[in-house]
Amino acid sequence: MSSDFQVPPLTELRQRLSAKWQTFPHDVLPLPVAEMDFPLAEPVAAALHQAIRRSDTGYAAPTADLAEAVAGYARRTWDWSVDPDGVHTVADVGIGIVETLRRIVAPGDKVVISPPVYEPFSWWVHEVGAHVVEAPLTEAPSGDSTARGPRLDLTALERAFADGARAYLLCSPHNPLGLVHPREDLVALAELADEHGVFVLADEIHAPLVLTGAQFVPFLSVSQEARRRGFSFLSASKGWNLAGLKAAAIITADPAPKRYVERMSPHRLYRTGHLGVIATVAAFNDADAWLAEVLDVLDHNRTLLAELLDKNLPAARYTPPQASFLAWIDFRALGWGDDPAAHILGAAKVALNSGHRYGFPGFARLNFGCAPETLTEAVVRIAESC
Ligand SMILES: Cc1ncc(COP(=O)(O)O)c(C=O)c1O
Repeated sequence: MSSDFQVPPLTELRQRLSAKWQTFPHDVLPLPVAEMDFPLAEPVAAALHQAIRRSDTGYAAPTADLAEAVAGYARRTWDWSVDPDGVHTVADVGIGIVETLRRIVAPGDKVVISPPVYEPFSWWVHEVGAHVVEAPLTEAPSGDSTARGPRLDLTALERAFADGARAYLLCSPHNPLGLVHPREDLVALAELADEHGVFVLADEIHAPLVLTGAQFVPFLSVSQEARRRGFSFLSASKGWNLAGLKAAAIITADPAPKRYVERMSPHRLYRTGHLGVIATVAAFNDADAWLAEVLDVLDHNRTLLAELLDKNLPAARYTPPQASFLAWIDFRALGWGDDPAAHILGAAKVALNSGHRYGFPGFARLNFGCAPETLTEAVVRIAESC
């Protein structure tokens, strides 16, 4: 960690008014809500300070800045050529997905998700009156020497698509497992979707946080089928910790999906945070160096967590993620019941997300987007108090 990248001490973090720091009493170490504890990237902070100095707090303007920033970042980072004309501003990824679903599904239609997955995926489907169909992740087929952990179950997806599903919510990278989908799975998914007339809504919010050793593949970059059936949802809110500022992008790369986005309310832009657009443009244009520091800390923390669990809670099972700051931990062998997060919160005053809310009793999700010292304290507290 460089000297200008020090994580603020807990006393300072507790002064933050965001959900992560206000949901629990001060004696609880909060490691659930997907916010990071790191100081804001300097170029982002500078852009926001300048806006405040100008009293520039009106509505977001219809400029091409955000689209061009997204396209520049995608080209530099993933060698993905995004046409700025296909980048549409929206308040956040959740709203982008719900508003897209409203245009492509009718009440009662089926929308497929792959649990365990970010819990609001099913809320969003219910919000538009559609039905959730589950095609859970699977282990790679045995005998596959390249197999690593769970991946998309293409057979289950094909079954669900053939059974009349209208859309699939792809989480890429996949929260809560931090799974980076291999290109061949995305190509196969696009083929299946095209064959069965299914739209793929690719939530790529965690993509800037892919860690050393894995390569993120943007869904719309894999094939013509993917572009014909796909929408990508991207923002700087996870990578640069800007969730409260409310700006994101829906990306389309074919006239058919683009037409659906263009049918959304013209107020889509005015519902986006003006400061969010300013911060997002600064993040995508000028904050690669800050992100590289974050990735170093996260890379360190994912290994540190494995070491801490080995030493203090050897019965817990955890595979370090390929992306982001979320760890998916199997506590079943510890005998802490269906909701180990509730047990841990009561006994150790460490807050995690309950795995049963993702359909996986006995599991919990831990956010390691924090100082290594905080992570160490959390695991030691759990081991000593539970
Ligand atoms: C996969 C995924 N999608 C969407 C979100 C929420 O994004 P937004 O605040 O832009 O709606 C999160 C937040 O953690 C997430 O993990």
